[in-house]
Amino acid sequence: MATYVQTVDLDRLASVDEREALICEVQRGLIARPRSLSPWMFYDAEGSRLFERITTLPEYYPTRTERTILAGNADAIVACAHNDRSLPLRFVELGAGTASKTCLLLEAALRISDDVAYVPVDVCSSALELACQNVACALPEVRMRPIIRNYVTDPLELESFDGTTLALYLGSSIGNFAPDEARQILSDLRAQLQAGDALLLGTDMVKDEPTLLAAYDDSEGVTAAFNLNVLHRLNRELGANFDAACFRHRVLWNRTEARIEMHLESMQEQDVSIEKANIDLHFMRHETIHTENSYKFTDRRIGSLLRETGFEMRGNWKDSQGWCAVTLSTCR
Ligand SMILES: C[S@@+](CC[C@H](N)C(=O)[O-])C[C@H]1O[C@@H](n2cnc3c(N)ncnc32)[C@H](O)[C@@H]1O
Repeated sequence: MATYVQTVDLDRLASVDEREALICEVQRGLIARPRSLSPWMFYDAEGSRLFERITTLPEYYPTRTERTILAGNADAIVACAHNDRSLPLRFVELGAGTASKTCLLLEAALRISDDVAYVPVDVCSSALELACQNVACALPEVRMRPIIRNYVTDPLELESFDGTTLALYLGSSIGNFAPDEARQILSDLRAQLQAGDALLLGTDMVKDEPTLLAAYDDSEGVTAAFNLNVLHRLNRELGANFDAACFRHRVLWNRTEARIEMHLESMQEQDVSIEKANIDLHFMRHETIHTENSYKFTDRRIGSLLRETGFEMRGNWKDSQGWCAVTLSTCR
């Protein structure tokens, strides 16, 4: 039975912690040089709404490409993860968003099992609520247990489960983290899994620079609005006085690190205060806030990341252009 109603309660509990996390993050990232903010800060209700629009843009290939891979291979992926069909199957999805692609996997699971549970985890309560509504509508047989949580500041602790767990980490969200952080996140996740459990990891592969740049700097300016929304969020939630019109969205391909970088560039010298974080900032003209990294992968990097964090690769699926990969590994 669908249980998304409980996110209303979880939401109220989460809001105090979320405010504290925001304050800690601006105090850490905006006083330091170069200035930076963590990418989870993008995802308030407006940020999630803008991200959903991004996923439909012609330039933004990752979502539709990953969906194509899952649509063509969901049965094989689930069969590979779930050897003993007499056991219940639990999906735990980190950064589930609105779970727009997850139903493909849940449907495949329901074709081989009548005991399927889904635990979507996300920092954004509005996205999570939509995820639960989507799944409850399409697949009412799936038991749901949504968790509002920031898996970076507050690593996940899973309830024990008498069955197989398939962890999902899709949308190349792992690419938002530097190699050390990515290893930490997967190691924390591995520590919550048992032998026989599995991880399905979605990654965006290294490709030509114009394709990569366009995906993060679309012609309609939706990604620019998504990036600038972090300043609006700080105004709304922490009483800051950023004038977002005085900042501009900047994207670059860092070839050495194999990552797309998103920045907000101050277009003039300006002062900003963030009342609830008790900080005053002075920006020089052209000074930037580094708001996101999106690392791109090679087969070799995927293999070593999984090996180093206690996983063993079982299957790897790509689209016909080799732009994105979905990799299944089991716990060693
Ligand atoms: C790039 S979107 C991907 C959404 C979805 N998995 C997909 O493949 O389309 C990232 C999602 O992860 C969530 N998220 C980002 N950082 C997070 C964090 N530290 N803890 C929990 N959720 C996070 C965001 O709210 C957002 O829904």
